[in-house]
Amino acid sequence: MELREALYTTRAMRRITGAPIPPEIQARILDAAVRAPSAGNTQTWRFLLVDDPDVKSRLAEIYRDCMSSFGRAFYGARTVEAEATRDDPESQRHLRVMRSSDYLADNFQRYLLLFAFGTDDLYSLLPALWNAMLAARGEGVGGTLTRMLAARSAEVFDILGVPAEGGWQMAACVAFGWPTGRWGIAERSPVEDVTYQDRWGQPIAFPIEGPLWP
Ligand SMILES: Cc1cc2nc3c(=O)[nH]c(=O)nc-3n(C[C@H](O)[C@H](O)[C@H](O)COP(=O)(O)O)c2cc1C
Repeated sequence: MELREALYTTRAMRRITGAPIPPEIQARILDAAVRAPSAGNTQTWRFLLVDDPDVKSRLAEIYRDCMSSFGRAFYGARTVEAEATRDDPESQRHLRVMRSSDYLADNFQRYLLLFAFGTDDLYSLLPALWNAMLAARGEGVGGTLTRMLAARSAEVFDILGVPAEGGWQMAACVAFGWPTGRWGIAERSPVEDVTYQDRWGQPIAFPIEGPLWP
């Protein structure tokens, strides 16, 4: 796959068939993750791949709880507003993301889960997980990143057997699966709306009529 296709079409693909992901594909995803950069190349990271149905169903229960408390608290007001303004394309977009996020919460036990742990530098985990998601994209496997379970890390660590010593913290988790939908180009605000040049507030000096792929 061409690099830019992967960059432009790697999205949160939450609706999945539930078919297993073969070990050789899992191996390529993990091997791409550990190629990522880390601050000072310290690689102070641990990855935990979870496919055990019992472990996943215990995590799924916590994920659903997090979604209905934390998720609702965070997005609830926006969702009420979006329901009242359903004709607005922004509201439709928000409601689509919420439905899709609810699907992930209701099906959490069906994904292959990849957890990433670090000590003080959790920033270094995000390039690794993004590498994993890009590698998965190259295989046709979808991934959704979530930090939701970090809100209940004591219970999650207990389920996963993460040791109390060592100062490990959960950076995030990616839920992988074979998507049922199409890989579209990620809808984002245009570059010129969110980027300045040389000084804050100063527009970019050249036109960018994105998306610049295909
Ligand atoms: C740091 C981070 C946290 C996220 N947390 C969640 C989450 O808890 N649940 C979820 O369903 N998606 C989560 N996502 C996925 C985003 O919701 C998704 O990327 C965004 O809505 C854009 O959708 P798209 O990638 O399909 O275009 C997260 C993404 C990032 C980068």
